[in-house]
Amino acid sequence: MPAPRPHCWAASTVSCNIVLNRLRLLPPPVIALLLQIAAALITAVIAFVMRGQVSVIALAFLCGIIATLLSHLFGLAKWWLPIQLFFLPALAGTLSLELSPNWFLFTFLVLLAVYWSTFRTQVPLYLSSKKVWHALVDLLPPATQNKSLAFMDLGSGLGGVLAHLATARPDGCFYGVESAPLPFLWSWLRLQQNKNCEVRWGSLWDCNLAQYDVVFAYLSPVPMEQLWHKAKKEMQPGSLFISSTFNIPDQSPHQTIQIDDLHHSTLLVWRM
Ligand SMILES: C[S@@+](CC[C@H](N)C(=O)[O-])C[C@H]1O[C@@H](n2cnc3c(N)ncnc32)[C@H](O)[C@@H]1O
Repeated sequence: MPAPRPHCWAASTVSCNIVLNRLRLLPPPVIALLLQIAAALITAVIAFVMRGQVSVIALAFLCGIIATLLSHLFGLAKWWLPIQLFFLPALAGTLSLELSPNWFLFTFLVLLAVYWSTFRTQVPLYLSSKKVWHALVDLLPPATQNKSLAFMDLGSGLGGVLAHLATARPDGCFYGVESAPLPFLWSWLRLQQNKNCEVRWGSLWDCNLAQYDVVFAYLSPVPMEQLWHKAKKEMQPGSLFISSTFNIPDQSPHQTIQIDDLHHSTLLVWRM
């Protein structure tokens, strides 16, 4: 058989790279799912060749191993690998329990209400520690005679930051915006007794930051660069932008405060 002509080989390598680069633009959970489907197809071929001599659970583990290898080769973040490995075995194990389908629907709806658009934003719910709350109190500027302090928590989760600050600084006004329905509802109920606190359901990207003296964000590495541009455009000179843990590419903070908590949080402070 004649060897493939070099330019055909080069053309197919280029098209392959284009497809891979397009795939890389998809949200990581979609990539993870596509790699699971690819692994399931490879496993189905192996099962066909073995003519049913392998148990379902063994095939599930084989599929998990293939999905993990593909995810590693594709460059998915390290924490995806155990998810990819155990996804199908966990699915097979759970199905063998023969639970009512209502449990799956219920669990799905609860997870949806808690994590909402995390697959797109890549900012899940996890909470600041109490030590972070205390450090934030020390960073708040003193009250002035003309205007009370205005603070915004972007992605306010269960409202812990707001509740603590509102109690520690009754002279200030504390606002939060949260996109996930269940955390929003939880924080709204929790903050009912705090007269100087308000949380609303919505996206942080629709929030004008011009009216706040301090803007706090505990999000993820993904939105930080875009958020920095928004903060630079909207925040007033002299106001504070504080990010917990996640840095902004190429922007050295004016102050860094190391917190001695379980997550080894760091508060990064920029004076705008
Ligand atoms: C890491 S948690 C931080 C919770 C809280 N600020 C704290 O420090 O304990 C991030 C929160 O941001 C929310 N979130 C993510 N993207 C958002 C967006 N575009 N608009 C509003 N909230 C968002 C998530 O639902 C999640 O509750």
